[in-house]
Amino acid sequence: MSEYDERHIPVLPGPVMDLLAPAPGEVVADVTVGLGGHARMFAEAIGPEGVMIGLDVDADNLATARSRLSGMPCKVLLEHENFIDFDDVLSEHDVAGVDVLFADLGISSLQLDDADRGFSFRREGPLDMRLDRRLGRQAVDIVNSMREDELSDLIYFNSQERFSRRIAKRICQVRREGRITTTTKLAEVVCGALGVNPDSRKSKIHPATRVFQAFRIAVNDELGALGTLLQKAAVWLNPGGRFGVIAFHSLEDGLVKRDFRERKNEGVYELVTKRPVIAQPEEREVNPRSRSAKLRVARRIGGEGGLMD
Ligand SMILES: C[S@@+](CC[C@H](N)C(=O)[O-])C[C@H]1O[C@@H](n2cnc3c(N)ncnc32)[C@H](O)[C@@H]1O
Repeated sequence: MSEYDERHIPVLPGPVMDLLAPAPGEVVADVTVGLGGHARMFAEAIGPEGVMIGLDVDADNLATARSRLSGMPCKVLLEHENFIDFDDVLSEHDVAGVDVLFADLGISSLQLDDADRGFSFRREGPLDMRLDRRLGRQAVDIVNSMREDELSDLIYFNSQERFSRRIAKRICQVRREGRITTTTKLAEVVCGALGVNPDSRKSKIHPATRVFQAFRIAVNDELGALGTLLQKAAVWLNPGGRFGVIAFHSLEDGLVKRDFRERKNEGVYELVTKRPVIAQPEEREVNPRSRSAKLRVARRIGGEGGLMD
């Protein structure tokens, strides 16, 4: 298991607490409990009468969350599950609805920094990229088996990388000489396709950033999972319940934005955030992960509880 890093700081802690406003005795579902940073704040706010349900697909992170949440005043239920099944988890625990539902999408810094997980192009490791190690398919399988046109589409749709065709072509050329099995090799192939030297590039973004994002999204079906979560959320939120999502790229944020707007038009939600909340310069300075974070919050119409504009 990865060592818990004391430097881990949850993203946008102030806005998350202000806008989701967990209150004593409420039921909170943190469906990406991660290292338990946000969950600890929720748990303290809901107190001894509250129930805190935490889910994560990553067994290591869940174990860290378990130890960090031990001794919290509320009832804590943690499950190694994908949030697409959060409704089943609630049913199994006889929870009929939630007052706060929260998702902080993507990966944690520990996952990114662990070379063995294969998420980072900066650290040599196997091309794995599974958030849930119970999954069968890894990035190495996709990179080495997909047809060129499929690879190009995957890269384009999951990252909007405009040179997706060129990159897919290069991947197919290189793999004819031997399988691409490591993160650094894939990064080298991408740089080769784009004709750039990552060290001399002026842009702060490494040329392989988007391609790695694209494969990670595909391995974990991240957009499909978010779509399912958005659908189920509307059903499982109690009247007055608050739903917050932190997204880290425009594909995710776009899905959340459209879903909240549609449900607002249907009279299901009201928008607590008209625009996404982003980190202030002080937070961006100390927590680089916060720089691309966008928080949106909606409130299930009905009931007296929760936040009003
Ligand atoms: C950004 S971290 C969450 C950090 C957490 N909010 C904290 O303060 O420690 C995202 C977490 O969500 C998990 N995750 C991503 N997709 C998931 C899914 N579909 N279902 C459950 N967990 C997921 C990842 O394994 C990771 O631990």
